[in-house]
Amino acid sequence: MALDTIYSSRPGDAVPLGCSSVSRIPTSQKLVVALDKPNATQAQKLVDELGPLVEVYKVGLELLFGEGIEFARGLQSQGKLVFLDMKLLDIPNTIEKAVANIARLQFDFLTVHGLDRKTIAAAVRGRDLGDSRPKADRLKLLAVTVLTSSTEEDLREQGAHESSIVLGVRRAEMACRGGFDGVIASGHEARAIRRATAENFIIKVPGIRLSGSTAGDQSRVMTPARALREGADYLVVGRPIIEAQNPAAAAKRILDEMRSVGPQSLSQRD
Ligand code: C5P
Repeated sequence: MALDTIYSSRPGDAVPLGCSSVSRIPTSQKLVVALDKPNATQAQKLVDELGPLVEVYKVGLELLFGEGIEFARGLQSQGKLVFLDMKLLDIPNTIEKAVANIARLQFDFLTVHGLDRKTIAAAVRGRDLGDSRPKADRLKLLAVTVLTSSTEEDLREQGAHESSIVLGVRRAEMACRGGFDGVIASGHEARAIRRATAENFIIKVPGIRLSGSTAGDQSRVMTPARALREGADYLVVGRPIIEAQNPAAAAKRILDEMRSVGPQSLSQRD
């Protein structure tokens, strides 16, 4: 489907049912550092170095299998928000029960691959079953749309016949309608996702690189300032901070660039 068709099929850009809302996020919480470290000792060293600069941490697959859940609980007791980047994908029954168990742990964000409505519905059922907190505090479900490392050629190899942006927007819209709280998506898709979903649908953008720095295995990268201008609510940053000689200085540089964008009014996003 062409992107024009996606836009024109949305009369009045009505807020789809199921999209959740988030209140205004302070810049200090918009920076999410990916703790891609092999064990809790190395991850905690980084958290100590970053101190109060960083309030939200992403615990991904590498650390999850290196004392990750216990470590994530420790982060909570240090007052940090925790984003479990598990990128779940399985049959609906398994997704529902796994998400219910994860929701009982009472972390803040969780990723699930947003490939189809059955997976999305199962994850929402699981979250609602497992998380007894008030709606505003409960686990936020984020759909992985298209990995930021994927090129157009990778998508063709997977059998997808749509471009990353068309596929990303379609999956985001499906997640929003299905009751997810947001997506994790490339900055290149953020503006179109915002238009296709709702003002308060969370858009977390990884693949963030300062101008002139190396992309590594990422393909669809973007600078912090541009990603915010494109409508990102949160920026997920791993290697540019965690592999820097001075991680705190790198985080400050990124936060300074983020602050230079200024507070975004919702109308500025369009
Ligand atoms: O080191 P870098 O900044 O590229 O790290 C990006 C982080 O975001 C990694 O932890 C990766 O797993 C995660 N991520 C991503 N693309 C997605 C979803 C998550 O890069 N679509």
